[in-house]
Amino acid sequence: MPIIAPSLLSANFLHLAADCQLLNESQADWFHLDVMDGQFVPNISFGLPIISQIRTATTKVCDVHLMIAQPEHYIQAFKDAGADVLTVHIEACHHLHRQIQQIKHLGMKAGVALNPHTSVQLLNDIIKDIDVVCLMSVNPGFGGQHFIPQTLEKITTLKQMIQHKQSQCLIEIDGGVTLENAPSILKAGADILVAGNTVFKSADPKATIAALKAL
Ligand code: DX5
Ligand code: ZN
Repeated sequence: MPIIAPSLLSANFLHLAADCQLLNESQADWFHLDVMDGQFVPNISFGLPIISQIRTATTKVCDVHLMIAQPEHYIQAFKDAGADVLTVHIEACHHLHRQIQQIKHLGMKAGVALNPHTSVQLLNDIIKDIDVVCLMSVNPGFGGQHFIPQTLEKITTLKQMIQHKQSQCLIEIDGGVTLENAPSILKAGADILVAGNTVFKSADPKATIAALKAL
């Protein structure tokens, strides 16, 4: 069964408590929390104070996706805010291995996100040190975009690398995931599905989460 990680970026921020409660009552496994700085990506979302408050509203895994420049300056702060999984972008890190070590040293799972143009081959030498690879299946910055089909090939290549290197790393797919394309994403080898619009813009978000979980 896939891990389902609804993205709160598509939640109603005026009713955040209600949307957290909805996820708590659903079969969602993780809360996916998208942090954008207006520099690494052309959008600004939310940051530390919101995540600290969401932390008090759930016992589920808080999966924090940092779309920020110089994430190394904020690793401790996101730990303190309650992150369980902390994902940094490979494109934002000069010293990726060091950042992974810092994240794990603080007791969090370490995630590495790759933009659509970034080759999974870049992870070959450190795949055993990573807990989650987040393959961006849209250009990061906004919810509600269309899935980039070449992602499927990247999943297959990454899965082979993980198996070849005997890594325990999980593959997370982020962007444009729908009930229609999720089966082929899972078939290619994904473990975690992020879904923003598909969940929160649906008539019955809990049923949509259950449907994703059942795939
Ligand atoms: C995009 C974010 C995603 C986004 C996904 O930059 O990283 O997590 O919220 O939203 P959907 O599922 O609507 O594409
Ligand atoms: Zn994300």
